[in-house]
Amino acid sequence: MDIREVAVIGLGTMGAGIAEVFARAGIGVVAIEADPQAITHGLGLLDASLSKAVSRGKLSAREQAQTRARIRPAAGFSAAAAVDLAIEVVPERMEIKRQIFAELDRVTSPAAILATNTSSLSVTAIAAATKHPGRVVGMHFFNPAPVMRLVEVVSTVITDDGVADVVAELARRLGKTPVQVSDRAGFVANALLLPYLNESIELLEIGYASREDIDTAATAGIGLPMGPLALLDLIGLDTALSIMEVLHAEFGLTRYAPAPLLRRLVDAGRTGRKAGRGVYDYVTSASDSAGNGVSSSPPDTVTLIGSGDDAETDLATALASAGVNVTRNAAHPTELVLIAATAGRPVLPAALAAGRPEQSVGLHLPLGLTRGRLAELIHTSLSSDQAIEAAAALADKLGLQVVRAPDRPGFLVGALLYPHLADAVRMVQDGYATAADVDTAMMLGCGYPQGPFELLDAAGPSIVLAGLRAMQDAYGFPSLAPPVLLAEHAAAGIQWASKRGGPGVRSGGGG
Ligand code: CAA
Repeated sequence: MDIREVAVIGLGTMGAGIAEVFARAGIGVVAIEADPQAITHGLGLLDASLSKAVSRGKLSAREQAQTRARIRPAAGFSAAAAVDLAIEVVPERMEIKRQIFAELDRVTSPAAILATNTSSLSVTAIAAATKHPGRVVGMHFFNPAPVMRLVEVVSTVITDDGVADVVAELARRLGKTPVQVSDRAGFVANALLLPYLNESIELLEIGYASREDIDTAATAGIGLPMGPLALLDLIGLDTALSIMEVLHAEFGLTRYAPAPLLRRLVDAGRTGRKAGRGVYDYVTSASDSAGNGVSSSPPDTVTLIGSGDDAETDLATALASAGVNVTRNAAHPTELVLIAATAGRPVLPAALAAGRPEQSVGLHLPLGLTRGRLAELIHTSLSSDQAIEAAAALADKLGLQVVRAPDRPGFLVGALLYPHLADAVRMVQDGYATAADVDTAMMLGCGYPQGPFELLDAAGPSIVLAGLRAMQDAYGFPSLAPPVLLAEHAAAGIQWASKRGGPGVRSGGGG
């Protein structure tokens, strides 16, 4: 089926981005938006994005004009009468979507495909509002739509054979990579991304770490393009909240319960970048950052305590090369006792054994010194502020970026990452997606430099497993229980890479 003209219903940020993507691929777009102000705003977004592409040399002025000429704004559904595909991109309210689909079903030709860009609502329930539910699919783009290469193509149990394949082919024509899945809350990417974002705001709420440190742990510690709190502001906290509510309703686990702070920020109108304020403030010019500056000078000599593992060797090497004197004599500790922390082992017992717990601080290098420049500075309940500041100054002298975290399982990077990886394994264990699909979705939809299963291989399945078990022991939430598939892989020493094979775009997936 040749798609020559599409209708995009709703011209908010995502709708404008999707209209741009179609038009840039040479496809005519009817942009339907009932509210004239919203049309003006949406076309303004689109024009700004095209101008940016021109200024970056991605588009010529001629192509810009041609692209713009392919977009025809309209106020009513009748303008969609002749399109080959209509895609709905309106806020996540089931009733509005069902009304729109009933209208589209009425005005379009029965051969046209009807798609929803819903991020989490049931495509099946939307399809059920039409008389021809076999032509209804999900076509889910990612923000910013012109940049992110993933399109999730969602079939329901009543989608006609071949419809999802046409939409997947269309996605390829747009320069995107389709991943075909069945209709389940959050599909692949949001079902994995959103609980991790929710976890990050929960950590902020309980004072586990500062918002800057939470974001730095994800960017510098895991290599993600944005920190989870900054990403919440990009997606919109209201959107994130509604996705969490759908996930919670479908899966029931406490991990999916929206963080109270997420709800409060939405109640307060702090919905993210679009409102000028979310977790961060985009209005005030002066930074309201809590900062993590180094305020004391580093000590010349430290007592280093370790367990003779790589963590200790790495740290000793780094200290020596920075000209810091290292003593191992715990009987005569220096002003700062540095504990080479290891994932899965609390710092406090070593601090107590050293006899000066208030002078003791853990330093954990999540990716090892050779691969990352992030240090987690682990404070126990007994660490003094002076010791923490001295350790921060020392890490700074070693050229490390520091985040501060309490002496709890996973420290900060693991607290964000391990449950996220467990969710990915559980999704494969459930038979919903392959490891390859998951990696593709997270890399192309959310800009991960490597997918969750590659991250799992890199971190070590047994380390992640031990981290999850420690977290479950500490907090007792059933949703932190490691999936049995992870335990099996860790026991058998199986790398996920061996299971991935190809680039991982699953065909079929309907029903
Ligand atoms: N519109 C169009 N283009 C944009 C853009 C926008 N809003 N934002 C950035 N770009 C383009 C830039 O023009 C630039 O293009 P070139 O490389 O061609 O010059 C490119 O993207 C990179 O931009 P920047 O250099 O300004 O910034 P960056 O390198 O920091 O990348 C980012 C920005 C692409 C947003 C990157 O940080 C990223 O990948 N972040 C993760 C985003 C993510 O996870 N999205 C998914 C959210 S979940 C979702 O959307 C699903 C849902 O249902 C909620």
